[in-house]
Amino acid sequence: FSLKNYNTFGIEAKAKQFIAVHSLEELKTVLIENPTEKKFILGGGSNMLLTQDIDALVIHIDLKGKKIIKENDDFVWVESQAGENWHEFVLWTIDQNFGGLENMSLIPGNVGTTPVQNIGAYGAEIKDRFVSCQAMAIANQEMRTFQNEECHFGYRESIFKNEVKDQYIITSVIFKLTKRNHTINTSYGDILGELKKNNIQNPSLKDVSNAVIAIRQSKLPDPKELGNSGSFFKNPIVPKSDFEKIHQQFPEMKYYEVSDTEIKVPAGWLIEQAGFKGKRFGDAGVHKNQALVLVNYGNATGQEILAVSKNIQDTVFKTFGIRIEAEVNVI
Ligand code: EPU
Repeated sequence: FSLKNYNTFGIEAKAKQFIAVHSLEELKTVLIENPTEKKFILGGGSNMLLTQDIDALVIHIDLKGKKIIKENDDFVWVESQAGENWHEFVLWTIDQNFGGLENMSLIPGNVGTTPVQNIGAYGAEIKDRFVSCQAMAIANQEMRTFQNEECHFGYRESIFKNEVKDQYIITSVIFKLTKRNHTINTSYGDILGELKKNNIQNPSLKDVSNAVIAIRQSKLPDPKELGNSGSFFKNPIVPKSDFEKIHQQFPEMKYYEVSDTEIKVPAGWLIEQAGFKGKRFGDAGVHKNQALVLVNYGNATGQEILAVSKNIQDTVFKTFGIRIEAEVNVI
């Protein structure tokens, strides 16, 4: 079974077996009927690089549905099943004037995978709106609720990438959103500039969402047109003392303070300075508008993209002494 249409990088890789599940019952049955089979859980396929065929039973989580589960005058609790497309879900919340997810418009992938890496963009992270998620234990099919604090969210991190990695399948997520007094956050990057362009002074949720969409479309390739997985690397966090040495040598380097002792450095800047922006190696390459994004121009293999990523990591390390780590899951 070809996985080419199930990963946003558009990499050709074969699954030994593939099954899509549409209900909790179906999911449970598949797990019970294949107790010893190796399993590979697939959501939107938007954050992984396949470098080989998958010698496992691939279970595609296609659970659909979204609803309001509770509300008061100020807040609403909405629940989405894991297989809903994230961006469509965000638009659905904005259409009802529910606030909190607008800065995360147009992020590829499905709702069920958003907690795994605590997705974020333009000054927002899902951990700020996430209440809890339901997950099925692969080993015994028991359902478990993970509350926000239990998820140990960090920058592109959670318990699902660490302590309970490969043990649970997230089946639904609950978010708490505002019904009024929305916190409109336009402080990040170019959102204000984008709003100004359209003469918008008091932006609505929809205006912010549209601004984010416009910025993303100008910088980030659409996976439907050019295979990619968003940011391939995380922005590295370095000790202040190391940073100061590098900063002396490269005073123009951009950075953000994350604590009294640590600085976050934009990997896109490092990669651009290292000369990789827009570079192409066969069908594998670095996006021309955003150096953090690796792209598949057509028929790149996962191995070829991986080789480019290693080349970038080595060159950035040689140039700046900073190690950058992959954000996508390399399979
Ligand atoms: N920069 C460059 N050259 C580049 C790219 C960026 O110099 O080629 C510089 C920019 O000028 C800017 C800084 O790096 O000063 C930061 O750039 P940007 O605001 O575009 O964001 P980013 O740090 O590159 C992060 C997320 C993105 C998210 C954006 C916007 C990570 C790994 N990436 O990128 O998330 O959309 O901020 O909030 O944190 C993703 O995770 O897949 C993703 C796309």
